[in-house]
Amino acid sequence: MRHMLNPLDFSVEEIDRLLSLASDIEHNLPKYAHVCDGKKLATLFYEPSTRTRLSFESAMLSLGGSVLGFSSADSSSAAKGESVADTIRAISCYADIAAMRHPKEGSALVASQHSSIPVINAGDGGHQHPTQTLTDLMTIRSLTGRLGNMTIGLCGDLKFGRTVHSLINAMVRYPDIRFVLIAPDELRIPSYIREDVLKAKNIRFREVNHLDDAMPELDILYMTRVQRERFFNEDDYIRLKDCYILDKKKMKLAKETMYVLHPLPRVNEISIEVDNDPRAAYFRQVQYGVYVRMALIMTLLEVEKPC
Ligand code: NCD
Repeated sequence: MRHMLNPLDFSVEEIDRLLSLASDIEHNLPKYAHVCDGKKLATLFYEPSTRTRLSFESAMLSLGGSVLGFSSADSSSAAKGESVADTIRAISCYADIAAMRHPKEGSALVASQHSSIPVINAGDGGHQHPTQTLTDLMTIRSLTGRLGNMTIGLCGDLKFGRTVHSLINAMVRYPDIRFVLIAPDELRIPSYIREDVLKAKNIRFREVNHLDDAMPELDILYMTRVQRERFFNEDDYIRLKDCYILDKKKMKLAKETMYVLHPLPRVNEISIEVDNDPRAAYFRQVQYGVYVRMALIMTLLEVEKPC
């Protein structure tokens, strides 16, 4: 039995197969309408979510399966003090696969160690968010036709943003990837990513404070919101929350072939005037998220691709 806790749980070849399956799903949706008939997905969300939880549910429903679950810690037995280990043991009796989001780093790993069904990490604190990364990879591959040979700008809260950590982990496995890490000093990338991933693998990267300087060289600009819920101090959040705002003026500095991605939710970091720019890809990204989660559910449940 396999889980998806970190993008590195799948080899590059396996990710390639998964993205190809997702792309086949995109183009032949009706063919997949019954491949998970009779299967159940449990969504265990101890933290707020709109896209991730609903896209998992939409994915399972589109495969013919059904869904059950909870959308906040308050409405689960966590409020009574139940451990993740005990909860997942019970859920294993109710469902065939589980997607879990939790504010504590490592909680999906703990769940997987006590589970008899596949566990998907739908975000564990400031750590990892592998299904957002699969979504990002599918978006980048579909829009640019490749996953290597590009400069990716990651902008905003690189310290707490788990989508950024997972995306870096996944992208360093492709050839000729360069990163520009755009963040205020307080929200720089954690040292375990800088040292153990980027430096250890000899990846070309530079860290800058200003978005304008980086714009002209980027093939992908990945914007993120400042993660209010992970700050210890509200004053720090208020001081940093609007540190980057992507607007039309900044878009003029970028290549015509650059794409803007954002895992969403957006707060102020992308002005709505950018939404109509053909390079704004963040709402298309949401749609890719459903196909990729359909492909992941099928892969973990070892469901055959229909002919
Ligand atoms: C992200 C998350 O939860 O980490 N959202 C998402 O899943 N699309 C990004 C965020 O909350 O900023």
